[in-house]
Amino acid sequence: MKILNFGSLNCDYVYSVPHMVQEGETLSSRKLEVFPGGKGLNQSIALARAGAPVFHGGLIGEDGDFLLDIAAESGVDCSLVERVPGRTGHAIIQLTPSGQNCILLHGGANRQITEDFIVRVLERFEPGDLLLMQNEISLPDRLMELAARRGLSIALNPSPCDEALLRCDLQLADYLILNELEGMALSGEKDLSRVPDALQEKFPKARIVLTLGKDGAVFRYGKEKLLQPVFPVQAVDTTGAGDTFTGYFLAAVLEGLPASRALQLAAAAAALAVSGMGAASSIPTRQQTEAFLAFRQKPESCKNDSRPK
Ligand code: RIB
Repeated sequence: MKILNFGSLNCDYVYSVPHMVQEGETLSSRKLEVFPGGKGLNQSIALARAGAPVFHGGLIGEDGDFLLDIAAESGVDCSLVERVPGRTGHAIIQLTPSGQNCILLHGGANRQITEDFIVRVLERFEPGDLLLMQNEISLPDRLMELAARRGLSIALNPSPCDEALLRCDLQLADYLILNELEGMALSGEKDLSRVPDALQEKFPKARIVLTLGKDGAVFRYGKEKLLQPVFPVQAVDTTGAGDTFTGYFLAAVLEGLPASRALQLAAAAAALAVSGMGAASSIPTRQQTEAFLAFRQKPESCKNDSRPK
C-alpha cells in the first residue's frame, strides 16, 4: 500500500512576541526565525520520520527548494512536487513565551493546484492506497472526490476548517484527525465531551481521532473508545504538534499497530515536537520517540536516580 500526502508546503516566518498582537496595536517582535512548514509538509515529514514510506504531492514556487531538501533528507519521496512561477506558500506565525501561536497563511503556490495536476498525481496510485490531505491547498473537494473514485482510502485532517472544507464530501473520509475546534465545528456539538460520539454518529465510516491539547487525545471507532493523555513537557513552540501527531498516528496504524499504541507513539512524538523550535524541524525520529517512551515508562525512582551504580 502506498501513501500519498497531497498538501501544502510553506515557509514559516516565526516572530517571537511578548503577547499576540491586538487589533489596532503595533508590536515589536523580539526575534524572527525562518523554518520549513505547512501542514502538508509537516505531516509528510512526520510520516517519514515515523518510518512510513510517503509520497508528497504539491506545488512550490521559485523560493521553495529548501522545503524539498528537508523533506528528502527525512525520507519523503518528492517526485510528485512541482515548481510553478511565483512564491511558495508562507505563514506568518506569532510565537509567545509560553510556546502558543497565531498563524496567518498566504497560499502562494499551494493555491495554484489544478484538477489536471490532481489527476496526474492520482494516476500514480491504485485502489487500496491511502491519501492523506489537509485544507491548505486549492480544490480539496475535487481531490477528495477523485481519490475516492479511484478507490483510495482517505485520511482527512480538516484544518483549517473553513468554507472550502465544508464543500468537501466528508463522508468519504476513512480517518478524521482533528482538534477540538474542528471537532465542534464539524459535529455541531458545543459540549466537548460529546464531540467524539457526535462525530462518530455523523461519520460512521470514519475512525475519529480528536486531539484535545493538554487534555490528550480521544480515538473513537465503532464501539471502541480510547483516551491518550499527553506527556507533560516544557513547551517551547507548539507549532506543528498536531501535524506530528497525525503523521505518527497514521504511520503506526498503517504499520499494523493497534490504535492504543499508535496514540501513545503519536503523543510521545508530539511532546518531543513542542520541546523544540519550528514545525517540521522539531519532528522527532522514530528512534528518538521510542527512546523517550522507554524513559517515560520507567518507574519514577529509576528516572530520578542518575547516580552511577
Ligand atoms: O500546523 C502548523 C502549520 O500550519 C505551520 O507549519 C504553518 O505553515 C501552517 O500551515
